[in-house]
Amino acid sequence: MKKIGVVGSINMDMTVTAERIPQKGETLKGDDLKYIPGGKGANQAVAMARLGADVEMFGCVGNDSAGKDLLENLKNMGVKTGHIRIVDQAPTGLALITVGENDNTIVVVAGANDCVDIDYVNEIKDSLLECEMVLLQHEIPQETVEYTAKLCADNGVKVVLNPAPARPVKQEILEKVTYLTPNEHETVILFGEDQSFEELMKKYPEKLVITQGSRGVSTCLKNGEIVLVPARKSKVVDTTGAGDTLNGAFTVAITEGRGIEDALKFANVAAGLSIEKFGAQGGMPVYEDVIKELGE
Ligand code: RIB
Repeated sequence: MKKIGVVGSINMDMTVTAERIPQKGETLKGDDLKYIPGGKGANQAVAMARLGADVEMFGCVGNDSAGKDLLENLKNMGVKTGHIRIVDQAPTGLALITVGENDNTIVVVAGANDCVDIDYVNEIKDSLLECEMVLLQHEIPQETVEYTAKLCADNGVKVVLNPAPARPVKQEILEKVTYLTPNEHETVILFGEDQSFEELMKKYPEKLVITQGSRGVSTCLKNGEIVLVPARKSKVVDTTGAGDTLNGAFTVAITEGRGIEDALKFANVAAGLSIEKFGAQGGMPVYEDVIKELGE
C-alpha cells in the first residue's frame, strides 16, 4: 500500500454544545462539555486511516496527559506515530469549540504545534520522502508548511495543501503544491478579490479545489469545464472536522488512482457522513460506507 504522510497539528478539542453560538460579549449556558481528539492534521490522518490508508502522522504534542491521550488515540485509529515528538517546552495544542445550530466556532491555541519547525522536518525527512503524498494544513508555523511543501515537491512527493485556517502563502509555494483545497474565504486570502473563483480554477485546472460548505466542492477539469460536486444531504449533528474528512478522503481517492471528479465525489460523501455524528473524528466513515453510498 502507498504511504501517505501528514505534517500538522494535533489538538485536544474542548467542545461545548449549546443551543446556538454566543454573540460577541454574550454569556450563554452550555449543554455539555467534552474533551475529544482533534487538530486539523490529526483529523486528516484519522480520516485516511479509517478509509484503510497507510498513514503516518508527523507533529508534536506536549509532555502532558492530553498529549498521551492523543497519541494513544492515533495509534488506536491505525495511524503510525513513531516520529511524533513529545516536547517539554509547550503544552499540547488545544481548540476551544462551540457547536450549535448546525455550525461551530473554533479558537485554537497552538502550544506544541508551534514546535513543528524546520529542524523537526529535517529530522523526519527520510520517512517523509517515502510517502506517495503528503498533506499539510495551517496549524503549524507557516515557514514549516512552506519548507515541507517545497522539500516534498522537489523530491517528487505529491503535496495537498489545505490552507486552513486562512493565511497568505508565497506564490512560489502555491505553484509547487499538487492540490490546493481552500474554502471560499481562504481562496480570497490566497489570491485576493481581483479574479473570480471561476477564473482562478481555470488558471489552476485539476489543482485548485474550492470547498463551498453546504453547496459542495468545485474544480476545473483539464478540458476547461468547471465541475461542482454538490454536497451530500446529511442530518447534521456536528460539522467540526468535515473539511478534514473531505481532504483526507480526497487524498486517499487520488492515491488509489481515481480521477479528480471521482475523488471529489468520494470525498464529499465521506465528509457528508462525518457530520452526522458528534466530534471532529467521531463520524468519520470507513471505506465500505462510502463505497456503498456511491453505489460502487
Ligand atoms: O477542523 C477542525 C479542527 O480544527 C478541530 O478538531 C480543532 O482542533 C481545530 O484544529
